[in-house]
Amino acid sequence: MTLATVPSPFEGLAESYDETFTRSLIGTRMRRAVWRRLDAAFASGARVLELGCGTGEDAVHLAGRGVSVLATDPAEAMVAVTRAKAARAGVEDRVRTRALDAGRLDEADLEGPWDGAFSNFGALNCVSGLAPVSAGLSRLVRPGGRVLLCLLGRYVPWEWAWFLVRGDRKAAFRRLSPGGAEWRGMRVVYPPVRELRRSFEPAFRFLGARAVGALVPPSYAEEWAGRHPRLLAALDGVERLVEALPPFPSLADHVLLELERR
Ligand SMILES: C[S@@+](CC[C@H](N)C(=O)[O-])C[C@H]1O[C@@H](n2cnc3c(N)ncnc32)[C@H](O)[C@@H]1O
Repeated sequence: MTLATVPSPFEGLAESYDETFTRSLIGTRMRRAVWRRLDAAFASGARVLELGCGTGEDAVHLAGRGVSVLATDPAEAMVAVTRAKAARAGVEDRVRTRALDAGRLDEADLEGPWDGAFSNFGALNCVSGLAPVSAGLSRLVRPGGRVLLCLLGRYVPWEWAWFLVRGDRKAAFRRLSPGGAEWRGMRVVYPPVRELRRSFEPAFRFLGARAVGALVPPSYAEEWAGRHPRLLAALDGVERLVEALPPFPSLADHVLLELERR
């Protein structure tokens, strides 16, 4: 179940999302880090399910490598952008789309079993509890199938420093608020890594967690990144070396969890 009480703010963001995030310096680097893991997990010919596909950047990327994706998102406008992007890229035969709230995955009628599933850049932070996601994925993903989930993290030193030097204590610690934070009328929750792991036990084996945005700053630092491109590249380079080492996965803007269906 989602906590949204108003129409999803993502409906109105679909047209500008690629401009403001996907093609940004920070967004590009973060997505490249996730693609390395998606590409390692899903081989050509695999059939995978995506939750919260947004504008379909990952689905189209995977389809270009021969992976078939059912790309889902509750925001119809996002689904429409995904469909158009897949058609423009000539991979519409490998990217099917569907409007779907991941909080209802336990009852969704999707033809399985799937070879794997993934969700990128915080879609699952918009779901109030992960139990229906875990139940749905355990029903839909075949044994041995990989599940990669990239969620917004809870403890983000970059964010604390960024907002504290600007005197905005509330923004600095908003992810720690009990029950999550409100964003454009939507409630966003920030579970710690240990709680995320627990949510997918015992049906999934935990393979590892990686930091995406521990040294690379969150996307609101884009202007700063534009002024310091070489420093951004260096931070990204170091982050890729240490991404799987504790405590970095627990101290990042996003954490990428890798799971295997038992
Ligand atoms: C920050 S965007 C990320 C989009 C995309 N995965 C990407 O990598 O760019 C978050 C996405 O989550 C979707 N979303 C919001 N609530 C959701 C829910 N309950 N279930 C699944 N997706 C949801 C939004 O519509 C939006 O497309």
